[in-house]
Amino acid sequence: MKLKDEVALVTGGGAGLGRAIVDRFVSEGARVAVLDRSADGLSALKEAHGDAVAVIEGDVRFLDSHREAAAKCVEQFGKLDCLIPNAGVWDYSTALVDTPDKVIEEAFDEMFSINVKGYLLAAKASLPALYDSKGSITFTVSNAGFYPGGGGALYTAAKHAVVGLVKQLAFELGPHIRVNGIAPGGLGGTDLRGLKSLDLQDTSISTIPLADMLAGVLPTGRMATATESAGAYVFFATRADTVPLTGSVLNFDGGMGVRGLDGTNRGALLDQHFGQK
Ligand SMILES: NC(=O)c1ccc[n+]([C@@H]2O[C@H](COP(=O)([O-])OP(=O)(O)OC[C@H]3O[C@@H](n4cnc5c(N)ncnc54)[C@H](O)[C@@H]3O)[C@@H](O)[C@H]2O)c1
Repeated sequence: MKLKDEVALVTGGGAGLGRAIVDRFVSEGARVAVLDRSADGLSALKEAHGDAVAVIEGDVRFLDSHREAAAKCVEQFGKLDCLIPNAGVWDYSTALVDTPDKVIEEAFDEMFSINVKGYLLAAKASLPALYDSKGSITFTVSNAGFYPGGGGALYTAAKHAVVGLVKQLAFELGPHIRVNGIAPGGLGGTDLRGLKSLDLQDTSISTIPLADMLAGVLPTGRMATATESAGAYVFFATRADTVPLTGSVLNFDGGMGVRGLDGTNRGALLDQHFGQK
């Protein structure tokens, strides 16, 4: 029960990584408010967790939705300790040259309004409550916040912008509020959707053989699941162990940044030396 008596607000908690974070936070003793646009995702949460969750149906592109979420969180649970802006969409690695002229402006606006503005507005609406609680913000970034190829130009630029938000807000909000990010790599057990402007809103990342693709490039040898990634958010939300932690982004991606030049899995050498015992 590492988060007993703590209260979190998660955007995009109706599916995928956000849902895994909510499940884990509740199991650690927290109460969690969730802002999501999926009515089905929210009712599944309510069914699973009852009074331990408060659900708010809304769209992260609008400040009013965030205001409503922060207000309901405080009304129902008395405070807000940890904000987790997480709702996002992907561009399915659409190359610039393949992005049609007639939709590129709309696609940029849609990507940035969900993946960046949605994060900024969450922080803005939660400031009074987080100031009161001396709380924290943990943004979901992505490997695309550091490296190319985890998306197209729109997604990669948006996730790099989130790293900028982490740094600027950590600077602006200390010493009252700690601000950090977690950058997962490709994850199993999510339903990440594409941009409507690219006609990808009904495409789910679960239809891509992501596990096979990543097994060959990650030093850890396999893709992690959303459930396996939720523990990092617990650590970032704990107060006792994170006193000096602000302005940082944790690469939680299976080692994408250390995959080397001549094949990924150097640990195969260990099998040769020690595997016979
Ligand atoms: N799935 C991956 O492989 C992966 C890897 C790295 C980072 N991420 C990041 O993790 C975060 C969560 O993604 P996921 O894979 O769990 O996706 P998901 O689609 O499984 O869950 C996202 C949730 O956000 C909600 N949502 C989307 N747009 C919204 C909006 N405008 N307003 C309100 N709610 C909205 C959806 O309804 C859904 O419940 C995103 O920021 C994504 O970029 C995902």
